[in-house]
Amino acid sequence: MTASASRPAPGWSPASWQSRPALQQARYPDRPALDAALAELAGLPPLVTSWEIHSLRKQLAAAARGDGFLLQGGDCAEGFADCQADIIANKLKILLQMSLILVQGLKQRVIRVGRIAGQYTKPRSTDLETRDGLTLPSYRGDLINGPDFTAAARTPDPTRLLLGHGRAALTLNFIRALSEGGFADLHHPENWDLDFMAHSPSAQDYRKMVEALGESLRFLRAVGCSASGELARVQFFTSHEALHLPYEQALTRQVRSFPGWFNLSAHLPWIGLRTADPDGAHVEFMSGIANPVGVKLGSGLSPEWLEALVARLNPHREPGRLVLIHRFGADQIARELPKMIAAVNRTGNPVLWVCDPMHGNTETTASGYKTRRFDRILAELSLAFDIHRELGGHLGGVHFELTGDDVTECLGGARGLDEVGLERAYRTQVDPRLNYEQALEMAMAIVRKLRAPMSGGSVNL
Ligand code: PEP
Ligand code: CO
Repeated sequence: MTASASRPAPGWSPASWQSRPALQQARYPDRPALDAALAELAGLPPLVTSWEIHSLRKQLAAAARGDGFLLQGGDCAEGFADCQADIIANKLKILLQMSLILVQGLKQRVIRVGRIAGQYTKPRSTDLETRDGLTLPSYRGDLINGPDFTAAARTPDPTRLLLGHGRAALTLNFIRALSEGGFADLHHPENWDLDFMAHSPSAQDYRKMVEALGESLRFLRAVGCSASGELARVQFFTSHEALHLPYEQALTRQVRSFPGWFNLSAHLPWIGLRTADPDGAHVEFMSGIANPVGVKLGSGLSPEWLEALVARLNPHREPGRLVLIHRFGADQIARELPKMIAAVNRTGNPVLWVCDPMHGNTETTASGYKTRRFDRILAELSLAFDIHRELGGHLGGVHFELTGDDVTECLGGARGLDEVGLERAYRTQVDPRLNYEQALEMAMAIVRKLRAPMSGGSVNL
């Protein structure tokens, strides 16, 4: 990391956001209890380390140069109840399998980042919710309050900050254990659930891809990479929306290994669309931390706004610092994205461009399910690859809401999940996620779209 990355602007401190307008914050009725929880949090061990953050920054810088590809994915909102071995392992498993498909197809290193171990807060369109004449605070994620529509559940509770830190630590502890060798078998497509492929019109392409991957892995084993050694170890990073600023502040620390301030609650915190005001509290906070920082971009934002934002968050134009995650929707991307790319090009900032094809393609069915269509998601992604390439750059990553479980929340995919089918296992508290099969198919569809050579070359795991 360059020296400037560790030097925040004069006047910045982990608390300097407090003098700016902070949107989407919880209102705690018991201020002393909040202060006590934050003081305790500030003394607890961090969740990630500065050297892991440093390594991620280097990898993101390489990806921005075209050497590497970011795969970011996980729940829209993690619940504390999701802190279970199977759910965590399944999420890692799908991310790993998708990444192997992408590595093989793109012939590039894939950086795996979960929306995991801390994705516990949600921005909401209204502060309050009214049902049958009763008005209560909106549910803002498990870090703040509970989803049940009772005054007790909906009142922001500071002890949840400690519980959330604990749940994130338990989740990460398990992730780290699995990453150190628990995935040996998963590297082999023979062990994957691939029945869905038969239902796809692209079945033949998909089968070839899987065969080529199996071949490459057998080759690696033959030349001495053992399934229990290097192949079994994988690197995972964590990310979440850095929405709850007092929580993020409490986990922002100085370390011995590097100068500067590190937000040690996650490797890659991001700023959501609703809190990306260059003069606002969230941008102020993120401007001074040494982590790589993501920002969501959507329709209605101006190129001037983006230029100001990029200058605020990456004034020294450091590679690996800024990840711009666009989410315009399949209908709007062709109109909006070129303006945004031109704005960033004017600044000369070496950002990593990532497409979130989920949040601009949300719709509600006649029976009231919030959903997304596989084809619309893929259409936006496909346009994103084309637009970046036509404008002389490249799309360096993808951002999905997904789960490793067999939920029925998004429509379509090889099995043609329809509106009636949504009822079977619709579980999300917030946004609809791709299920295991849909997520794996999405990775294959990306590779198919890019028509990368399916054989030859080596796989860099
Ligand atoms: C999200 O990623 O869950 C989210 C709320 O996204 P956005 O800020 O892009 O709306
Ligand atoms: Co979401």
